[in-house]
Amino acid sequence: MKKSILCIGAGYVGGPTMAVIASRCPQWNITVADISEARIAAWNSSDLPIYEPGLDEIVQKVRGKNLFFTTDIARGIRENDVIFVSVNTPTKTFGAGAGFAPDLQYWESTARAILEHAGNDKIVVEKSTLPVRTAEAMHRILDNNHKKLHFDVVSNPEFLAEGTAIRDLLDPDRVLIGTMPGPSGNRAGDLIASIYQNWIAPEKIKRTNVWSSELTKLAANALLAQRISSVNSLAALCEETGADIEEVAQAAGMDHRIGKAFLRAGVGFGGSCFRKDILHLVYLAEQCGLPEVATYWRGVVEINDYQQRRFVQRVMNALFHTLAGKRLAIFGFAFKADTGDTRESPAAAIAKMLLEEHAKLAIYDPKAMANARAELASYGDAVEFSNSAAEAARGAHAILILTEWAQFRDFDYAGFYQQMEKPAFLFDGRNLLDHQMLHKIGFTVCPVGRPTLSV
Ligand code: UDX
Ligand code: ADP
Repeated sequence: MKKSILCIGAGYVGGPTMAVIASRCPQWNITVADISEARIAAWNSSDLPIYEPGLDEIVQKVRGKNLFFTTDIARGIRENDVIFVSVNTPTKTFGAGAGFAPDLQYWESTARAILEHAGNDKIVVEKSTLPVRTAEAMHRILDNNHKKLHFDVVSNPEFLAEGTAIRDLLDPDRVLIGTMPGPSGNRAGDLIASIYQNWIAPEKIKRTNVWSSELTKLAANALLAQRISSVNSLAALCEETGADIEEVAQAAGMDHRIGKAFLRAGVGFGGSCFRKDILHLVYLAEQCGLPEVATYWRGVVEINDYQQRRFVQRVMNALFHTLAGKRLAIFGFAFKADTGDTRESPAAAIAKMLLEEHAKLAIYDPKAMANARAELASYGDAVEFSNSAAEAARGAHAILILTEWAQFRDFDYAGFYQQMEKPAFLFDGRNLLDHQMLHKIGFTVCPVGRPTLSV
């Protein structure tokens, strides 16, 4: 078998993953293919389609050597025996399971393209998050072909987080490789493991059956999101009782059984994975006749929605119960720091709720302005897309911190305060800033899960 890989889908997962594999495995030739001509053109340019710290440098080093981007999917399938699939699997918006089940149309059309263009046996690796047993279904579709070709389907879910994708890929906690039973499945798993062994210690490469691998991806995301909803639910309680969520989370997290990570209260989780994967899990539980399990996990999403509504309510209450015509400066639109991605961003949901109240928004984000413009295109003059934080704050009644960008800490808040309407409010939806300092400047400061510092 020649050492070459095709990856179908050049998105947030496919692009960075293949760039890292190319950089660590010079003996492998890697082609990344996508149906979107614009995306492929961007990958081939100096202006990559996604922002990810460290990605530019890696792509510069390997592009044109052993990493190539193309729209010629058919040729890629013909010429490569190992095919990674990292197309998107969004939540279905129509038909049975709408709002919960994953939409598998992109995955299925990829499978059919593989079947159509393959001229020899292939190993197909699922990177996209898929509901449990999809690999088996795909195996059946691919393997029952009149060409008499053999396909091995391997599940190799991605655990990278945006903003730290390159670090996560270079030094992952684990790589999961799930294979179908039998010698052929095992051989396929060995080959995929051999790619990762170029830079990852063997004890971190975990082999499982294919269903465990698929479910682990959903489970890991659900458990992480659950921690955030847990801490956010406690933040609501803190605001009522006078306890401070930062103190509670820190003290609880000192118990090594609980741990420190993922206990930051805020405006709720966003991103392309958490909500979608929990809703997959809910759907799966319902399909399996386990309504209690479905209700349990649905609660994690409900608390997240509630947290966003509660934040908007807090803004309303503080600003004398009306937002109509008031200018609000929104700092941060990405779903988290160090990315321009706005999929499921709490900032987007909160902005839309504020706009329903006829607020005027001035938005500033270091990397997400293009996505913010696209997301809020229908709101016309009610939204201003500002070139700087200072421009957004000028004439505003309040500043709302909605993304935890570290650089927001370094702004000249005293200068902003001078330019704002009074009383000037600051709602720190990420508990990012020094609240005492802001209070001294003159702001009424409303953190999450902590008492308001009123003027
Ligand atoms: C997540 C998983 O971390 C990753 O392993 C998986 O492969 C894909 O989904 P990602 O969505 O990129 O990655 O970002 P993550 O860092 O998990 O943050 C998700 C959301 O939770 C963000 O909106 C973030 O701001 C929020 N968050 C995170 C909190 O509100 N509090 C926390 O303590 C941690
Ligand atoms: P993720 O975050 O999972 O990587 P993205 O939306 O960023 O999701 O990327 C998925 C990519 O898959 C997109 O660039 C999209 O154009 C591509 N894609 C979707 N369907 C197909 C297909 N049938 N063939 C090739 N590429 C596809």
